[in-house]
Amino acid sequence: MQNILGIESSCDETGVAIYSASAGLVKDLVYTQADHAAYGGVVPELASRDHIRKLPAMLHELHELTGIAPHEIDAVAYTAGPGLAGALLVGAATGVAYAAALDVPAIAVHHMEAHLLSPLLEEPAPEFPFVALLVSGGHTMLVAVEDFARYQLLGETLDDAAGEAFDKTARLLDLGYPGGPEVARLAIDGNSEKYEFPRPMTRRPGLDFSFSGLKTHTRELIARVDKSAYADVAAGFEQAVAETLAIKCRRALEHTRMERLVVAGGVSANLRLRAELDKRIPGRVYYPSMRLCTDNGAMIAHAGWYRRAEGSKSGLVRVRPRWPIDELNRQP
Ligand code: KG4
Ligand code: ZN
Repeated sequence: MQNILGIESSCDETGVAIYSASAGLVKDLVYTQADHAAYGGVVPELASRDHIRKLPAMLHELHELTGIAPHEIDAVAYTAGPGLAGALLVGAATGVAYAAALDVPAIAVHHMEAHLLSPLLEEPAPEFPFVALLVSGGHTMLVAVEDFARYQLLGETLDDAAGEAFDKTARLLDLGYPGGPEVARLAIDGNSEKYEFPRPMTRRPGLDFSFSGLKTHTRELIARVDKSAYADVAAGFEQAVAETLAIKCRRALEHTRMERLVVAGGVSANLRLRAELDKRIPGRVYYPSMRLCTDNGAMIAHAGWYRRAEGSKSGLVRVRPRWPIDELNRQP
């Protein structure tokens, strides 16, 4: 198996890419849907329709740009979950149909496993074992990664995901969607120590997270301050999230006695988080490159390479909007 085509459509990014077994990532195209900004969050039905509109042209462009013809594709990997059901179905149906037309296997990829493996696309790649912090718009989890397909969930959020907390705070600050980059931009000129913010669940033991209290705290603070204080609020909020995540990462490393930390998912692009991790984590921290932090087809094609043995020619289109990551484990 040489060339794997990857298709991502779980949320509001349409991504296609080709990963080559010998040459690594060949090309990665991402289209970020813009229509959701007006609604302050992803509208599932709009997302599905936009994927339908974009995917065929993007696949065509991918072949054009790479010079890799359809008949040179050896497998098609697509995101089968977790994610928005309708959005997933577009990528899954496209992937399965394309694979059937080319008479190659279709590989159902777990979106969070793809994030988790994405730092392995970089140089130097982390070696197993490592602790992974996965922070996206829908998930916040700490996973002990013994090896490929040997995952143990150490902790997760009890309510909002880290990215979701950024998105909701952005809305409170009259910023656009997606909120993470907007809050980070506003925070650059802010004083993170002007206001006090909680570091939720850091004082008691355990590796779970909770961000809804921080969100409520921020909402109440915003109601009290003038708009000129918004940069300070953004900076204080961002710092609180960064420190909370970093404290838990350090605890997870101590708990597992692992040395390496991998951080992936949209929020891993956050520079304040990266700075806080560099400060608090004694070992090395591995990230995907900036453009591969948020959703993309490259990580799907890459994860498909790892899952190539599970490729199937059945032609069945199945998605798993909910899909616990430890269901991916192979037996030791
Ligand atoms: O992984 P991702 O692209 O999609 C999901 O699988 O959810 O993550 C998107 C999330 C959004 O909540 C977005 O606000 C957040 O990642 N995000 C950031 C940054 N860039 C994206 N959060 C904080 N700082 C950033 N620079
Ligand atoms: Zn994602």
